[in-house]
Amino acid sequence: SVIVLDFGSQYTQLIARRIREIGIYSEIVPYNTPAEKIREHNPGAIILSGGPNSVYGEGSLHPDEAIFTLGVPMLGICYGLQVIATHFGGRVDVSPKQEFGRAKILVNRHDGAAASMLFKDVPDSDVWMSHGDKVVDMPEGFRVTASSSNSEMCAIEASGSKAALKVYGLQFHPEVQHSLYGKQLLQNFLIDIAGLTPDWSPKSFIEHQIEEIREAAGEGTVICGISGGVDSTVAAVLVSKAIGERLHCVFVDNGLLRKDEGKKVMEFLKPLGLRITLVDAEDIFLKRLKSVASPEKKRKIIGRTFIHVFEEQIHEEKFLVQGTLYPDVIESVSVKGPSETIKSHHNVGGLPKRMKLKLIEPLRELFKDEVRAVGRELGIPEEILMRHPFPGPGLAVRVLGSLTRERLDILRNADEIFIEELKKTGLYQQVWQAFSVLLPVQSVGVMGDKRTYENVLALRAVESSDGMTADWAHLPHEFLSTVSNRIINEVRGINRVAYDISSKPPATIEWE
Ligand code: XMP
Repeated sequence: SVIVLDFGSQYTQLIARRIREIGIYSEIVPYNTPAEKIREHNPGAIILSGGPNSVYGEGSLHPDEAIFTLGVPMLGICYGLQVIATHFGGRVDVSPKQEFGRAKILVNRHDGAAASMLFKDVPDSDVWMSHGDKVVDMPEGFRVTASSSNSEMCAIEASGSKAALKVYGLQFHPEVQHSLYGKQLLQNFLIDIAGLTPDWSPKSFIEHQIEEIREAAGEGTVICGISGGVDSTVAAVLVSKAIGERLHCVFVDNGLLRKDEGKKVMEFLKPLGLRITLVDAEDIFLKRLKSVASPEKKRKIIGRTFIHVFEEQIHEEKFLVQGTLYPDVIESVSVKGPSETIKSHHNVGGLPKRMKLKLIEPLRELFKDEVRAVGRELGIPEEILMRHPFPGPGLAVRVLGSLTRERLDILRNADEIFIEELKKTGLYQQVWQAFSVLLPVQSVGVMGDKRTYENVLALRAVESSDGMTADWAHLPHEFLSTVSNRIINEVRGINRVAYDISSKPPATIEWE
């Protein structure tokens, strides 16, 4: 595997991603992880990430110096290069000219020695820079392998008697797409220089995880809350492959789900061999939510009620499966250091602590698209793998104001039409998320010569890559017209449909 030491760069996750794309497993650890701990991972290479600080002065971040004695090939990127240069006796100082964005590198092929292996098949080309400091004095025993107009020492490596150390540094960011030959550089480093074999695949991941889960669970029994979403489903199927019937899945129908959701999810999951209990908890959720209009109050009540209902399903189980993904894990370890605890999952937070359950998180090393690839390998239907995200509080935050069963049903019927049409036209896969919102507003209409005074429904569809920022999806007018016609004609209680054209920020994706 490859260890990425995180010095707080916004691109650290991207480095890990690129390495995995090359087919090599990589893990991010905080910059100050002790060398002893790193050794336990038995890494084939170490990459030092970029970071916002300076290597000199206050706020500078330093790795455990012993990492330089592990005998593992190292590549420093941006701040990482500066850490390496300083460690080996070079000097880094503030650059009179900061460099942000595109720059052109000249690869040094004529210094008399053999050309750098790092730059094999890499021509003079565009790279992405983002730095205010630069190397001003070379460390002894290093040579320059590429330069840009602003940093003569833009790529350096240990050479001569130090060459065997296999230590390299790049001032630019090979992990971003604007560095045209970035992937080639990483590949040269990992495969040609560090000698790693690209053998990470969903299949090898599954085999490895099955062993790990068996070892972690021992003879114990395991409980898993499934929501019908991608993460919990893939996690559950993976654990059931490892321990079979000793996994007990619980699907809580809180009465805030999409139309026929419980039935559909059971249909999808039954053939996968899961043992599932479907808990019909609609009455208790709706009772507790009665006359509650505040979005935050609704969320709190739903969270508490979920824990209450789920707890009743726990008997002799010792472990709880959670579909935590890698971005949640790194967000919480990052530069703040290994002492930070992992963020608890918002939907089942509090459960493991209260019930003294130990966590099993088989997906905690994966990015979302890797989860999908693993799910595919496990035989989970595309229907589930390609689903839009669905919020934990469900339709409670899409029926604005206080809830009633009738209003939930109106929303469900309308939303079913919207989603059905999106799927029919292939637009479903082109948007990040699409749904309907029932407004607490009535408007006047006319239907068959009769005046109506009914509900307004808003349609929302957004494009996004992580849900943090989003733009409204520019769905074709013809399409919107079909959906609107169908909803007004087919759904009793709606006489007007509006389309939400707000981006996030300043709006949010959900309305509540
Ligand atoms: P917002 O509305 O904050 O939504 O722009 C961003 C993403 O998060 C989802 N979301 C939630 N998910 N519990 C969840 O599990 C929640 O309380 C919650 N609120 C919003 C939302 O659907 C979107 O994908």
